[in-house]
Amino acid sequence: MPQAVRKAIFPVGGLGTRFLPATKAMPKEMLPIVDKPLIQYAVEEAQAAGIEDFIFVTGRGKHAIEDHFDVSFELDTMLRERGKNDMLSAIRSWMPSPGQISYTRQMEPLGLGHAVWCARHLIGDEPFAVLLADDLVLSQTACLKQMVDVHGEIGGSVVAVVDVPREHTDRYGILDVGNDNGRLASVTGLVEKPKPEDAPSTLSIIGRYILQPEVFDHLDKQEKGAGGEIQLTDAMAATLGTNPFHGLRFEGRRFDCGDKAGFLEATIAFALSREDLAMDVRKIIKSYTDT
Ligand code: G1P
Repeated sequence: MPQAVRKAIFPVGGLGTRFLPATKAMPKEMLPIVDKPLIQYAVEEAQAAGIEDFIFVTGRGKHAIEDHFDVSFELDTMLRERGKNDMLSAIRSWMPSPGQISYTRQMEPLGLGHAVWCARHLIGDEPFAVLLADDLVLSQTACLKQMVDVHGEIGGSVVAVVDVPREHTDRYGILDVGNDNGRLASVTGLVEKPKPEDAPSTLSIIGRYILQPEVFDHLDKQEKGAGGEIQLTDAMAATLGTNPFHGLRFEGRRFDCGDKAGFLEATIAFALSREDLAMDVRKIIKSYTDT
């Protein structure tokens, strides 16, 4: 049986320039969808997939993330004194236990592959997950849990994928595929941000990965790829042939929250999925669309 996936890396060092001025003094991962920051959705998804070790690769100006995953004594005391147990649960119930979170810094913005490489000593020699908080998934079963289940059956590496319009291939890592049963596709090649005319398919990787530790052997070389950055996609491509490698068309809907329109769409979709808000939000949307 494949070794269990116990550890997850959350690269949170990015500057978030696409959301300025909101991200001038606040990490982009703390932007909320409805009432929860993006990074908390990612951590909760990892918890639902059985992850026990949460490794944040952070950078300057990201203290709010550490504070978010820590006890807030003043707030705790005040809510307890006032008997606000539901709010206490809202600030505590989802927190990983003491010692389950580690932080390391990506000292220079050299790319996603470099960010993941910065966590190599915290991962060691076992399979691990990577979650990019920008990519938010609304699903019945947590996206990473679906991937962990596939990994439990066939091992190797698993990436979550969606079909994108061909004109968007230059925004994502794109797969070249062999056998494809409509849900699982075996990966024969990987290219980072190919031009539409060069893309081997339109199956794009979203920010959810289960990887084998061999990927670090290639990241160790620090080779630069697309955009002059050390790309995770290139290191994954170099491991092809050593272990099974699959793309999973997961059940659920993915929102690219690194993009303003995607962020707004996620806000609407998550609000509509909430019992306490759905009706009001529906009314609001209707008032804008009725002519
Ligand atoms: C990164 C990866 C890319 C992947 C994307 C998913 O790109 O390099 O392969 O498809 O995340 O969101 P970035 O969004 O950092 O440019």
